[in-house]
Amino acid sequence: MTTLLAQITDTHIREPGRLAYRRLNTALFLKSAIEALMRLPQKPDALILTGDLTDFARAGEYQHLSTLLEPLDFPYYLLPGNHDDADNLRAAFPHHRYLGTDDFVQYSVKVGDLRIVALDSTVRGQSAGRLCTSRLTWLAAELDRDPATPTIVAIHHPPFKTLIGHMDRIGLLEGADEFAAILNRYTNIERVISGHLHRSIFTRFANTMASTAPSPAHQVCFDLSEDAPSSWILEPPGFHVHAWQGVAGHKTSLVTHVVPIGRFDGPFPFHENGDLID
Ligand SMILES: [Fe+2]
Repeated sequence: MTTLLAQITDTHIREPGRLAYRRLNTALFLKSAIEALMRLPQKPDALILTGDLTDFARAGEYQHLSTLLEPLDFPYYLLPGNHDDADNLRAAFPHHRYLGTDDFVQYSVKVGDLRIVALDSTVRGQSAGRLCTSRLTWLAAELDRDPATPTIVAIHHPPFKTLIGHMDRIGLLEGADEFAAILNRYTNIERVISGHLHRSIFTRFANTMASTAPSPAHQVCFDLSEDAPSSWILEPPGFHVHAWQGVAGHKTSLVTHVVPIGRFDGPFPFHENGDLID
């Protein structure tokens, strides 16, 4: 059996009719992303949205997001980013009980054969992220409850340096080492998945892999200099699909696919009558 977890991140939804940065219709982009998800030949078991759900955390933006997500015919899970507000998020999604009522939006859910442990890295009023003792203590207890099920840890701010200077300065500025130390105790952490960067980035982290996913709308410009200007670009949008295919008795691991969003020419066959087309 294959378990598919789709990941969309940094949707930055505004109220209907309002553009992000005065030029970007993020709602239209999310609509295309949802359509692309629904067109996948294999239906995801669930979708997780890893933060920056809205642009200014306003109630009307969350209402708009809720409407845009209505066409989904499989479960979705929400996690706040630095552009979000937990109270307004909870108010717009009252049936999403897993969002809880605590200081932080942290939860564990089972998706097929996978376990998703979602961590809240946000600090009210700040762009940078932080994992305080209380959040790390919750994580340690949560991972300890199930050291066997293949687990994905989701957190908006990636716990690693991306080398894009202006983004690293608003990255996970506190708690990354402690986070790694906790993950190092386990062998069932398949991936740490994040957003925030609006790009696909992969690295080794603790004894697992960490990644960030692209935005369905705008991407952060690729520039690995310390003084890179803080700017965005309309490179092809996309999302990730994390696939787990457990085979009893065999060692396996999570496979992540980057899926571009759009209408493209094709598909075209490679072969004709059994031969490669010349
Ligand atoms: Fe973002």
